[in-house]
Amino acid sequence: MRIIAASNYEEMSARAAEIFVAQVTLKPDSVLGLATGSTPVGTYQRMAEAYRAGKVSFAACRTVNLDEYVGLGPGDSQSYHEFMWENLFSHIDVKPEHTNLPDGKNLDAVAECARYDALIAALGSIDLQILGIGHNGHIAFNEPSDHFVAGTHMVELDAQTIEANQRFFERREDVPTTAYTMGMAPILQARQVLLLVSGEAKAEILRRSLTGPITPEVPASILQLHPNLVVIADDAARKWLT
Ligand code: F6R
Repeated sequence: MRIIAASNYEEMSARAAEIFVAQVTLKPDSVLGLATGSTPVGTYQRMAEAYRAGKVSFAACRTVNLDEYVGLGPGDSQSYHEFMWENLFSHIDVKPEHTNLPDGKNLDAVAECARYDALIAALGSIDLQILGIGHNGHIAFNEPSDHFVAGTHMVELDAQTIEANQRFFERREDVPTTAYTMGMAPILQARQVLLLVSGEAKAEILRRSLTGPITPEVPASILQLHPNLVVIADDAARKWLT
């Protein structure tokens, strides 16, 4: 594990974007594992800036996202599909047909999870996977549990996750309670994992994830087993790391 110390969110985002640009420069047809949420937004902005400055092209990249709310999809403003277009895809030259998210509109969970696992397998290993972390230690939507799940699955979102996600919705009742999420296997099989953590509210869960026991009760703790984990954490998030 390598921990890169950033002074704040901006520096964290700049360092993460540099790693993405280096990855795509060295391997233009990289498979990029992408996340939603507040944490990667600054990284995506800087990736788009690098593209606009002519420093990198994503035209040969393929992307695969971690998760999507069940019931939401293209055209729904709160869907992760729309989030990715708003925050990254429409600002770079990635080909729409090279971008992949779970299909939240497919309510046949068994079929959708099987489709997404087959899609991930066909892409081959993810070259670079970006991750944020939930306040309860979730990565993707692998919520605290008594066991780790390897493949794509439908998950009931934790009360804490629903509360955290409420900021993107007008009313609490509007926040979806279920999601499709990538399982742990493709994340652990990614060639490199980039965990971004910003803010004091994540400091305690970051400490537990990196220095505590490996347990499905703290899903991110499994990342301790990854051979090429890079954590970029700002000063506030590193508060409890010695
Ligand atoms: C998003 C995802 C989640 C978020 C996590 C942190 O695709 O899979 O695990 O990374 O909930 O969210 P933020 O960055 O909003 O604090």
